[in-house]
Amino acid sequence: MKRKILVTSGLPYANGHIHIGHLVEYIQTDIWVRFQKLVGNDAVFICGDDTHGTTMMLRARAEGCSEESIIERMHAAHVRDFSGFDVNFDYYGTTHCEENRQLCNEIWAAIKKAGLIEEREIEQLYDVEANTFLADRFVKGTCPVCGKKDQFGDNCECGAHYSPTDLADVVSTITGTKPELRKAKHLFVNIEREHKFLDQWVHSGTLQPEIANYLTGQFLNNDLRFWDVSRPAPYFGFEIPDSPNNYWYVWFDAPTGYIAATWQWCKLRGLDFGDFWRNPNTEVHHFIGKDITYFHTLFWPVMLKVAGLTLPKKVHIHGFLTVNGEKMAKRRGTFILASTFLKHLNPAYLRYFYAAKTTGRVDDLDLNFEELENRVNSDLVGNLVNIASRTAKFVQKIGLSASYPDDGGLFAQGVSAGNEIVDAYENCDYGKVIRLVMECGNRANKFIDNAAPWQIRDDANRQQELQDICTIGLNLFRQMIVYLLPILPSLKSDVERLLNVEICNWDDSGKQIVGTKVSPYKHLITRVERAAIERIVEESKQPETGNSNNNSTNSNNTAANNTAADTANNALKFQDSDEALKAEPLLVERVSIDDFTKVDLRVARVIEAEEVEGARKLLKLRLSLGGDEQRQVFAGIKSAYKASELVGRLVVCVANLQPRQMKFGLSEGMVVAAGGGGNEIFLISPDNGAKPGMRLH
Ligand code: MSP
Ligand code: ZN
Repeated sequence: MKRKILVTSGLPYANGHIHIGHLVEYIQTDIWVRFQKLVGNDAVFICGDDTHGTTMMLRARAEGCSEESIIERMHAAHVRDFSGFDVNFDYYGTTHCEENRQLCNEIWAAIKKAGLIEEREIEQLYDVEANTFLADRFVKGTCPVCGKKDQFGDNCECGAHYSPTDLADVVSTITGTKPELRKAKHLFVNIEREHKFLDQWVHSGTLQPEIANYLTGQFLNNDLRFWDVSRPAPYFGFEIPDSPNNYWYVWFDAPTGYIAATWQWCKLRGLDFGDFWRNPNTEVHHFIGKDITYFHTLFWPVMLKVAGLTLPKKVHIHGFLTVNGEKMAKRRGTFILASTFLKHLNPAYLRYFYAAKTTGRVDDLDLNFEELENRVNSDLVGNLVNIASRTAKFVQKIGLSASYPDDGGLFAQGVSAGNEIVDAYENCDYGKVIRLVMECGNRANKFIDNAAPWQIRDDANRQQELQDICTIGLNLFRQMIVYLLPILPSLKSDVERLLNVEICNWDDSGKQIVGTKVSPYKHLITRVERAAIERIVEESKQPETGNSNNNSTNSNNTAANNTAADTANNALKFQDSDEALKAEPLLVERVSIDDFTKVDLRVARVIEAEEVEGARKLLKLRLSLGGDEQRQVFAGIKSAYKASELVGRLVVCVANLQPRQMKFGLSEGMVVAAGGGGNEIFLISPDNGAKPGMRLH
């Protein structure tokens, strides 16, 4: 039976760019979703940016702009990076939206009604100059236990845990000034009241056994501490309706972002989000890294349960990325941004390598460049692609045999491997998937070696034999391709073009193709160039910023122990300089003619144009595409055009762009323009005689 599955990845912080550590998670999730869709399940992949918190506030102040403008810029950058790696969300939202505020209100009301909220006064360090309370990670001082200087407010390199007020010579990392102690009222959730529920939930098969044991040992064997969910102003987030001047702590409104984004996606499709989040027949699957385990396995289930929302069926937790055996480091050039990788190497390499390293367990995984090179060159080029490149050219003129020849059981062996591959995908053991598929490849290559089609290519009497050998080779190749599609989706169209048969779903792995044409063979995947890897590392080298919350890859984060103190060091990662933020999108690779024709460019007439209140750059356009087909488009052209002068003119519009929910409304396309922005924007118009609705070729 068709399963209804909602899948999420952790929402990346809006204050940093996507890097190869993040991609461990997004690629892993994307593979799982693509697999579910390929086997015919009803899967939806939801994600979005996590936008609130102190860091965002400080950054907006530093840049002298609004938080919203950073959010908007980073949203675009994240979407671009993800699509560069073929991470294909059904919807990519943001926690900074009205739907999320409304959800927080509702969940809050439910928690309150259940009597779980308590107010307590706490003392916290306050930076007078920056005018803000200081989370642990914004405080440094001398360790009260060992006397080491320059330690963060929650723990020291010596392993000691303490509260920031215990530090000697304490300074604010924001201004370098000495903070003072101030009192403030905070709101706490008494999660101890749900202890029994958590005991049961944690061991209900939702979590990997090692995670369930960790939670029991670290938390559930004792009383659960109250969870501090409010922050006094100034704070960037949602103000708590019944507690003016207090804001929800970012970890309250971050996971609700999963639901908010689902809601927005549902609105676009006229669906009811309750179908996902108030439906016991929907499977919710979260994919997260181990650093944010307790937010998703202690607080979040309590929020969901109390509010009567669907609890996750599984939380898939993965380990952290190391590069060449060490923590990613700017100094070593191993803190590699997604965009830097894309400039130099085919993203399929990283997808494949991460898949090979993914086991469904919580262990960390290592990206070793030499191993990546060997893996890709031997598996993909030497094994997989080799099958097609050694056979396709001999049948380019004659096509495949009219009926499938006797292959000694090779195809059938592949079909039975398919059953194991299905289980391995389901369990996120993609390493096993790859082992099984490569075994298929070894058998196919051995068959071709023995049959040696190149020896009979010119023998007029053996042309049928030649065609049969190649038919077998190409069928085995195609079977492997179907198995690998969740990992290497970019191969799909090339292989369809080569063999002139579409790949529709998983069942195609069991169907032989015969009698079809074979197109000229073009390289499907090329070898990894060592020099390209070196360029990536060179380009990623930067002095360490000194802000070591930067890529907090600390692996045994037990911050849930703390309450009053702001333990969310996770929420406080500055990830890069403004330089990187402003980097222009780069043309990553050539597109094929098929890719190009996927873009539906059409002549359109502007029938309404207006300024958008609160938007600096946007004009809201209504476009007619002929007949009664219309699109609403938000175009960033206000600096160069007046709304009134646009009405009536013809423009070129991208008519099949995935609609995007913007702060000001839904944008259902794009108008095409040249120029570098500002007042240098030139809308492209067709010559006289063109009519709205005409397609561009
Ligand atoms: N904003 C929070 C998540 C909120 S979910 C409601 C956050 N953001 S993050 O940008 O720091 O990380 C996003 C996801 O990527 C997390 O699941 C995190 O574990 C994962 N990873 C970030 N860096 C990583 C590595 N270096 N290695 C593996 N996964 C990593 O946490
Ligand atoms: Zn110490």
